[in-house]
Amino acid sequence: MRILITGAGGRLGRDLRRVLTPHHECLAFSHPELNIADLAAVRSVLQEERPDLLLNCAAATDVDRCEREPDYAERANAWGAAVVASCCARLGIRLIHFSTDFVFDGEAGAPYTEFHPTRPINRYGATKLAGERAVFQSGADALVVRTQWLYGGGGGDFPVAILRAESLRGGGSLRVVADQVGAPTYSADLAEQVARLLDLPLRGVLHFNNDGECSRWEWARETLHLAGRGDVPVEAIRSEEWPTPARRPKHSTLRRFVWEQLGWPPPRDWRAALADYLGTLRANGQLPG
Ligand SMILES: NC(=O)c1ccc[n+]([C@@H]2O[C@H](COP(=O)([O-])OP(=O)(O)OC[C@H]3O[C@@H](n4cnc5c(N)ncnc54)[C@H](OP(=O)(O)O)[C@@H]3O)[C@@H](O)[C@H]2O)c1
Repeated sequence: MRILITGAGGRLGRDLRRVLTPHHECLAFSHPELNIADLAAVRSVLQEERPDLLLNCAAATDVDRCEREPDYAERANAWGAAVVASCCARLGIRLIHFSTDFVFDGEAGAPYTEFHPTRPINRYGATKLAGERAVFQSGADALVVRTQWLYGGGGGDFPVAILRAESLRGGGSLRVVADQVGAPTYSADLAEQVARLLDLPLRGVLHFNNDGECSRWEWARETLHLAGRGDVPVEAIRSEEWPTPARRPKHSTLRRFVWEQLGWPPPRDWRAALADYLGTLRANGQLPG
C-alpha cells in the first residue's frame, strides 16, 4: 500500500514510519516539508503522490500553548484537519486521523466509549474535536483513532520528564498530580496496531490505549521503579497545587469498545509497555539520570 504520513517528524509519525516501511511504500512528510494548514500545498502533494491512504499525525499538541495561543491550536488541529480531509475526499484517498481523550470532560466516572457524548474542557480538546467533525463533514473515507497519554520516541514525554526531574531534584521529593487518571499509551504499540487497521473497512471513531489505567502519580512512581529509582520520594498532589493554563480532565480513560466488538484481544498492560520503552532507552544509552 502507498501510505503518506503527515506530521512524520513527531512521536507517532516516526513510529508509524518505522513500523510500516518494511511492508508498505511510505511517503513521510514532516512539518517543514508539508504544512497541513496550507491548502494549496496539501492538494498539490496529494495530487502528485496519489497515496492509497493518508495517516494524519500532524497536530498542535502543546496543551498549554493551545490555551494561550488559539491560532496555534486551530490552525493545525481544526483547519489543518479540514484541509487534509477535504483533499482526501476530493481525491478518493482513505484517511486515518488521530485524536485525543481530551475531547471528554473526564467527569463521567468511568472509561469513555467511542459513542459517549464529547465535552472538551480546554482549547486543545475543543480544536481536536473541531478537527474530528471536519473530517466527518468532508465526506472522506475516514477513521478517527483517539488515543491518550502518548509517550515514546525518547524526548519530551512524561516518563523522560520524570526521570530528568529526578536527576535535577537535588534531594527533595518530586511532586506529581494524583487526581488525573488515564491510560499511558506507548506510541510504538499504537503504531503496531495501526498496521492492522489499514485494511479495515470502518468509518467513524475507534479508541486505542494500552490496557489498564493509573494516575499520573502512579505513572511517575512506576517509571522511577522501572528505572531503578523506586527509592525517590514522590509527593501526591492535587491538580490545583500544580496550576497550568489549560485544565485537564480528571478521569478520561478511553474504553476500546469498538476494538472489543471486533473481537480483538486487549493490548498489553501499560506497565509492560512502559518497561519495554525504558528498556529500549537504556539499551540506546538514552535513559536520563
Ligand atoms: N502526545 C499525546 O499525549 C497525545 C495524546 C492523545 C492524542 N494525541 C494525538 O496523537 C497524534 C500524534 O501526536 P504526537 O504525540 O505524535 O504529537 P507530536 O510528537 O507533537 O507530533 C506532532 C507533529 O505535528 C507537527 N505539526 C504541527 N503543526 C503542523 C502543521 N500545521 N502541519 C504539519 N505538521 C504539523 C509537529 O511539528 P512541530 O513540532 O514543528 O510543531 C509535530 O512534528 C496527534 O493527533 C495528537 O493530537 C497525542
